[in-house]
Amino acid sequence: MADSAIDFARDFPGLAQDVHGVRLAYLDNAATTHMPNEVLDAVRDFETTSRANIHRGVHTLSQRATDAFDGAREQLKRFVGAGPAHELVFTSGTTEALNLVAHGLSDAGLGRPVLAAGDEIIVTALEHHANFVPWQAAARRSGAVLRVLRPDPEGRLHTEALARLLGPRTRVFAVTAGANASGERPPFEALLKMAADAGAMTVLDAAQAVGHEVPDLSSLACDFMAFSGHKMYGPMGIGALVGRRERLERLAPLRLGGDMVEWVTEQHTTFAELPARLEGGTPNVGGAVGMAAAAKFIERVGRDTIDGHVCALRRYAVDRLSELPGVRVLSADSPRTAIASFLTEDAHPHDLGTLLDHRGIAVRTGNHCAQPLLDCLGIGPTTRASFAIYNTRAEVDRLAAAVAEALRALR
Ligand SMILES: Cc1ncc(COP(=O)(O)O)c(C=O)c1O
Repeated sequence: MADSAIDFARDFPGLAQDVHGVRLAYLDNAATTHMPNEVLDAVRDFETTSRANIHRGVHTLSQRATDAFDGAREQLKRFVGAGPAHELVFTSGTTEALNLVAHGLSDAGLGRPVLAAGDEIIVTALEHHANFVPWQAAARRSGAVLRVLRPDPEGRLHTEALARLLGPRTRVFAVTAGANASGERPPFEALLKMAADAGAMTVLDAAQAVGHEVPDLSSLACDFMAFSGHKMYGPMGIGALVGRRERLERLAPLRLGGDMVEWVTEQHTTFAELPARLEGGTPNVGGAVGMAAAAKFIERVGRDTIDGHVCALRRYAVDRLSELPGVRVLSADSPRTAIASFLTEDAHPHDLGTLLDHRGIAVRTGNHCAQPLLDCLGIGPTTRASFAIYNTRAEVDRLAAAVAEALRALR
């Protein structure tokens, strides 16, 4: 394996810096990836040549901005394999996209909600809180029952367990394409298909997969998929909900106001068609442009190249970390994951993360917004290293050496 697939010092200016006097080893990519020059350039180009509000202007800059926004939408739809039966709605990120679905199916504000008392929602225990808490709220709002698909003691999800939960009242099944806290990559294709065959609407949280595996909607039994720009080499504050048009049409809008209406009188409003109907207010146009440029970057480097690189690095990290006494990597054998999340005997992750930072190594520590999963596994907070195209084996070696040194100091 080449040590690094591309020359990151040249392409990713945010990484070319020292922290505490040492060259930065940025291993917090599951939280946020850095942006390559081509994404930074696309955003700068938009902001300096085309910045204006969209849809509401006849002037040249407004038309340029509208074209840039629509072009970004089309680019991202192609990126995730969306066809004519799909639509993509821009959001501020995965969290807003998942809230849009859960709220949109349970809100009674604009008429009868899709979810009703006695219906059942199934979410898995592997979820980030962004794909968990909105479903708790949807259940409360609608009177639906929330069921949780729990993993085995190793943190894996199984189709047999889902088969036991699915029933005639199951309306929604929501699952992650990659558990951010453990690195487990569930068999989401089979799980989604099983739920769809049982008549449920299916929701995929693709936040952790979109930067390397990139789920393909054309081959998935998936009604709604959510992802964020900042986890795929794009800007923060932008994301997308992409899904089947007929399903998106059934969602009550989350944001009421400008741009999402057709006609408003004193007492009544009719709403715009998709996607505007679900995009109330001024969108993050520069972010959408940057997110589309990030998709182009992933295509240019190659999805398989990126996936191969990050998964091989993760495998290498699992091997190196597992050699250390008192270290256990979660979901050590999971396929296709860029996340190595580990437990350390006698050392708190927060202390470990602080010592690693002093060695210039950025990792994330804590519960990773996934408390139900940690409860299921009977564990506390973890330390998480996560990889992107610019990371190297040399950085994993630095991580392993620094963890060993920190554990000696902390014990
Ligand atoms: C699996 C998963 N889902 C959802 C989110 C929330 O994403 P965002 O903060 O971009 O909305 C994250 C963020 O870490 C995540 O890892």
